[in-house]
Amino acid sequence: MEQTMIDRTKEIEADLVITHCGQILTMAGATERPKTGAQMDDLGLIPGGALAAREGRIVWVGKAEGLESSVSLVEGARVIDAQGRVALPGFVDSHTHAVFAGSREGELAARIRGKTYLEILQEGGGILSTVRATRGRSPEELAEVSRGYLDNMLRHGTTTVEVKSGYGLDLESELAILQAVEILNRTHPLDLIPTFLGAHALAPEYAGDQAGYVEAVIRMLHQVKGFARYCDVFCEEGVFSVEESRRILLEARRQGFGIKLHADELRPTGGAELAAELGATSADHLDHASPQGMRALAEKGVVGVLLPGVSFFLMAPTYAPARQMLEAGMAIALATDFNPGSCPCENMALILTLACLQLKMTIEQALNAATINGAHALGLALEVGSLEVGKAADVVLFDLPSYQAIPYRFGVNHVWRVIKKGKEV
Ligand code: NIG
Ligand code: FE
Repeated sequence: MEQTMIDRTKEIEADLVITHCGQILTMAGATERPKTGAQMDDLGLIPGGALAAREGRIVWVGKAEGLESSVSLVEGARVIDAQGRVALPGFVDSHTHAVFAGSREGELAARIRGKTYLEILQEGGGILSTVRATRGRSPEELAEVSRGYLDNMLRHGTTTVEVKSGYGLDLESELAILQAVEILNRTHPLDLIPTFLGAHALAPEYAGDQAGYVEAVIRMLHQVKGFARYCDVFCEEGVFSVEESRRILLEARRQGFGIKLHADELRPTGGAELAAELGATSADHLDHASPQGMRALAEKGVVGVLLPGVSFFLMAPTYAPARQMLEAGMAIALATDFNPGSCPCENMALILTLACLQLKMTIEQALNAATINGAHALGLALEVGSLEVGKAADVVLFDLPSYQAIPYRFGVNHVWRVIKKGKEV
């Protein structure tokens, strides 16, 4: 208070300042629409940058030299001297299945010996073994198990995460998962966006009655509505067909859910086309999306969420055709797909490395995809994903000399500080 009375030129007051960043990647300029094409090369980079925040929101970003003349500190303000480190928006991990019980390292051993992911699922393992471990757990128990995974995410620089249900496959257990997400949203610094994925696998009670389970999922919709922002379906040959997915998602859309889709992950199924037809917020995986599907997604502005950690961990012979997608004008986001079967990894920086080396994305494209476009994949781009005045002060600082070192120094966590809503966590 006193400071502003003394110096009226400093209209901006801050309770957090991060200064002397070697580089600040603001990712600015795409809050309305996701980045596509040449915009994906623009990091909004400020060399020698600084950032100021007040009550969890960014109030100023610019060159460190300009900080002192523009911003005054309130009493007790926190000042972080980054000493040349790299600052960027906290990662937005827009696709995970982070609430489950149990663990499936035995499947890794089986897959190394030659079993495929779908064979394991069809023999009653895979997703169904996690369902057995998850059912019967209370929301509180599930939240306690998942808290450790969220801690890992935060430590690796993720500040917003989407979490899908889908390891319950009946109303009570699906609700328990979504309630665990709600508990974690209240008690963990990460922000969680809940998605209902009742159509993740055929519930064991419905063996031989796929149509019956589709109806059961549709009946669950209005009961989970208060707990989930999005509805998703695992659309894949041998899991849920395009027709079944359409039925579920049309009803979800009618009830006000946002729409997402696991599309063309293991085989070309027509999932990308369906996501475009329904005007989904995102179409995810897309490893085998058709050229028409990619064009349709680009035309409809559906974000393609690519998950190269899955291709890596399932030893897929090919990866998603990211370059073709970018050329088609699609908006691309990157996420972990953190789950116990196809990608038990919370680390977004490692996903950046895979995106660069296997999807052949440039480092700049990958960084935009992991931040601002991830925010678009969750409908949150006015709030997170870039460092711009008015948005949440969600910042990650890497103990590295340049942003190019983030995918380069792979396999080790180089995160130095994580700021969530203006507070160091
Ligand atoms: O996104 N594809 C379907 N679901 C998850 C895997 C879930 C699991 O194996 O537990 C995925 O890859
Ligand atoms: Fe998934």
